[in-house]
Order: sequence, then C-alpha cells, then structure tokens
Amino acid sequence: MFELLEATPPDALLGIIAAFAADSDPAKLDLGVGVYRDELGRTPVMAAVRAAERQLLATETTKSYVGAGGNRAFAAFIEELVLGPGHPARAAGRVTTLQTPGGCGALRLAADLVLRTRHGARVVVSEPTWANHRPLIGGAGLDLDSYPYYDAASGTLLPDAMQEALERLPAGTIVVVHACCHNPTGADLDADQWRSLAALCGRRGLVPLVDLAYQGLGRGLELDAWPVRLLAERLPEVLVAVSCSKNFGLYRERVGAVIAVTANAAQAAIVMSHLQALARRMYSMPPDHGAAIVVAIAADPALAAEWRAELEAMRLRIATLRLRLAAALGAGPGGGRFGFIAGQLGMFSLLGIPPDAVAALAATHHVYAAPDSRINIAGLPEAQVERLAVAIRAVAG
Ligand code: LMR
Repeated sequence: MFELLEATPPDALLGIIAAFAADSDPAKLDLGVGVYRDELGRTPVMAAVRAAERQLLATETTKSYVGAGGNRAFAAFIEELVLGPGHPARAAGRVTTLQTPGGCGALRLAADLVLRTRHGARVVVSEPTWANHRPLIGGAGLDLDSYPYYDAASGTLLPDAMQEALERLPAGTIVVVHACCHNPTGADLDADQWRSLAALCGRRGLVPLVDLAYQGLGRGLELDAWPVRLLAERLPEVLVAVSCSKNFGLYRERVGAVIAVTANAAQAAIVMSHLQALARRMYSMPPDHGAAIVVAIAADPALAAEWRAELEAMRLRIATLRLRLAAALGAGPGGGRFGFIAGQLGMFSLLGIPPDAVAALAATHHVYAAPDSRINIAGLPEAQVERLAVAIRAVAG
C-alpha cells in the first residue's frame, strides 16, 4: 500500500532545524524554531522544574493511567493561572479544563469539539499566523479562512481591516486569536482593541479560540492572560488552548490544556464529556510527567516563587534583547525600518524581508530564520546582536 504514497514536503520549521544542523560554520545562529535560549545558546531545564522532578522521583508511587481528562490538579492550576482566582465564569461553574499533549493537542481537541457541534463550521486565523495553525485546525476538517492582522512591510497591526473582516463573518464562526506574544509577528492588540473585539464577538455571535502559548513572556503572567479573562467575562463561549512548553520550558514533555468557557454549568459538564471522548479516540490519555512537574511546582510556595522569578528573568532578557537589536539595526544605514522590534512582545518578530533575503541570511551569514522572515529573539545570544544587525541590514539592502 505504501507505493501509493508520495513524500510530503518537509515542515518548514523542522527543515530549518535540519539545515542548521548540517551547517558546519561554528558561528551559526539558529533563530528558527521557537525555543528560549540563554546567553550560551542552551535551552536549560528551569531550576524549579529540576527540583520538582527530584521530588517526583522520590514520592511518585505509581505509573498507572491518569484517565482521558489527564491530571485534574494540573487542570485546576492552569484554570486559575489563566483565568485568575475568583473569575466570574469559574464562580458560575461555566468553565471546564482538560489536560492535553501540548498546546497542539489543545488546539486539535478544540477544533474537533467545534466539529462535533457544527459540521462545516468555519474558522478564521490571523494573516499571518503560526505555521502550524492551519494544518492542526484544518486537519480536523474545519473550513479555514483568514482575517487581515498585520502588515509585514510596515511592521504595523491592521486593527481596522481586522474588524471589518470579522464584522462580515456569519454567527458561530470560530476566530483564532493569540492572547499575547503573537506568533509570528510579536504584535499584540492593545487593551482597547481587545475590548472592541470582545464587543464585536458578542454582537456577531463569534466564538474566540484563544491560543495562549506564551503566558509570562510578554508583559508578565497576569497581563498576558488579561485578554482571556476579558473574553471569558464578556462572552458566553470561549475556547482556550494553553501550552506550558515555553513558560515552564517543558517542550518535549508535551504539557498543555484546553479550557472551554460555556454558557452555563450544565453545558460545561457536557463539553467535558465530549473532550474526554475525543481524547480517548485520538490518543486515549495524555502523558503525566510534565503535568505532574507543574503540579509539584504549584503546590510548593518556594518552588512556585522560584519558577515565577525564572520566568520573569526570561521575559526581561527577551525585552532587553529587543531593545538592543532594534538599536543595533537602527545604528546602520537602512536599519531604522526595523524599529518595530523594540515595541513588540514575546519571542518573535517578523523582519518583513523577502524569501531570497532570508535564504541569503542562512547561506552567507549562517543565520537561520523561518522562511516567512520570522526571527526568534529569545534564541539570540547578546554577544551576537551586533553581528545579527549587520547581517540583516546586508541582506535587506
Ligand atoms: C514555533 O512557533 O517555532 C514553536 O511554537 C515551535 C513549533 O512547534 O512550531
């Protein structure tokens, strides 16, 4: 049967990992895949995570199944981390949360859940959006479209065009939004724009599917989650896909959650039954180790404080790198156009340079960016800022 298959084109981001590995230049710089790196180019295990793992090793009594709902203490912690204590939707019992294999698992389950309610339901994603949104959500069988979000040439948001496009969508359309640290642009809506979006979704009967993969890496844990809290307060239905890959550095452990905010408590219970059934028929149950680490950190005030401090240090490092890179770019001819990097948030910015310039960055300067010209600021050693600025200015012309 396999003779019927033709090889698929390689995944663009995974392709960069391979191209980077094949480059023998000692000064090569990987700004492709979105992982945090320290000054030495390492993606370290956070100290709080390591301590929690030691605790687990000493105290874990079983490796028995966790059930399709996953680790329930983890779900409770994530719900509170995202929505905050005392959120009215939680107080009303209209929130339900299921542990998933990473944020990807959460997005896919959310898409499958939507499909169960309405076949042929339409989903819109921002243009541009994270490269995996379309395959993940579209792969569930939903009808996918996009709304204008960002103009890469000028490095600016397009809030008016976005609003106009969303106003025209039929009720029930799912609108995928990034709560913070928009991937790939680093450009987030401001508070007023979020309020307008909440009002628009309410008026038009649109349902937000919020991707929250970078909580804590933009403005901080509370401010980054604020848009989700606002939407959950103002709208009857919201879906949220949460990832612990970046803010706990648990990438390969695959730790995430899907949160469903429903119109009432009865619907929350029904939704949970569907989420569990969907999980069961796809992967049965999520892995426990990463979620257990998060729970161990949350349950220990000293570890929780250590984790928050480490996360804050990562956030500040990214913010500082942004300022330095924008300044270094601006110090040379033609570099002023990249000033937007300073004001954006999170790990990514889109350089807005053409594909041949991205290719030249790799071929001539051994700097690997995503094909859409996205760079991972969090992958940049401070000592390389100047060199990167020179390379970008050279290829951008
Ligand atoms: C990224 O955008 O680079 C990360 O979210 C990693 C991934 O899976 O694509």
